[in-house]
Amino acid sequence: MKLLDGKICAESLVADISKRVAGYVESGLRKPHMTVILVGEHAPSETYVKSKIKSCENAGFDSALLRFPESITESELLAAIAEINADPVTDGLIVQLPVPKHIKPQNIINAIDPEKDIDGFHPTNFGRMTLGQKAFRPATAYGICKLLQYYEIPVKGKHCVVIGRSNIVGKPISIMLSNDFDIGNATVTLAHIETPRALLLDETRRADIIVVAVGIPGFVTEDMVKDGVVMIDVGINRLENGKLVGDVDFENVSRKCSWITPVPGGVGKMTVAALMINTLMAYQNNFDLA
Ligand code: GUN
Repeated sequence: MKLLDGKICAESLVADISKRVAGYVESGLRKPHMTVILVGEHAPSETYVKSKIKSCENAGFDSALLRFPESITESELLAAIAEINADPVTDGLIVQLPVPKHIKPQNIINAIDPEKDIDGFHPTNFGRMTLGQKAFRPATAYGICKLLQYYEIPVKGKHCVVIGRSNIVGKPISIMLSNDFDIGNATVTLAHIETPRALLLDETRRADIIVVAVGIPGFVTEDMVKDGVVMIDVGINRLENGKLVGDVDFENVSRKCSWITPVPGGVGKMTVAALMINTLMAYQNNFDLA
């Protein structure tokens, strides 16, 4: 079993980005700029946002964190987004999810200028990605592809099983792996909460690559996989004892894997790195750079 180390891969991608940014800045351009909106208090979101801002520093980007109270109304939040959409200095904008219950996430996502939508969640980007057109690709799914590419894991012609159909991870990664992309051309099964257990087992037991994003610690067990499987664990679950674990029973499943992502230090790091790639792309689009 070998580890798909998201930390090493992300650091390498961010180092490349920072070199390119240094070149742009030397030629007289401003730095790329990411704006992050955080609404209310949500401990995991605090951690994720902190890591995005830190990664901006490492990449040589400017960043701004705008905090709003839990009590903000949807229309107030939409007004703040409209203001940032119109701000020429912001290349990329993300609204950290989840937002409070009285705000509809889809209304927020739809309000972000697709040119600044570095999360790739806006229907324009999601649609363009699905159609194989140039787009901001959803960061976690894109990060998984970059990780597979970095470790030269063959994807073309493989049987992939994605467990979980969220708009953030499961849906986009199932599309990206099946599309005629550089990391793609796999045969993909998308399993979800309504997939009968027996069918799920049939699929996972013959899968070459499994991507699991269900948010349930220990969901993937040893009996569900074949020897040599490549396991991508997207879960980030905090146990009562404070330990951070994924959706895979790592200790027992890893013995059967050819490759597996650790948690932490796997997909989470890659989500942030992919966001940096998308921000650089937004910036390059703004300045008509190649
Ligand atoms: N919450 C959990 N994952 C994500 C993500 O990739 N982007 C945003 N904006 N919020 C999230």
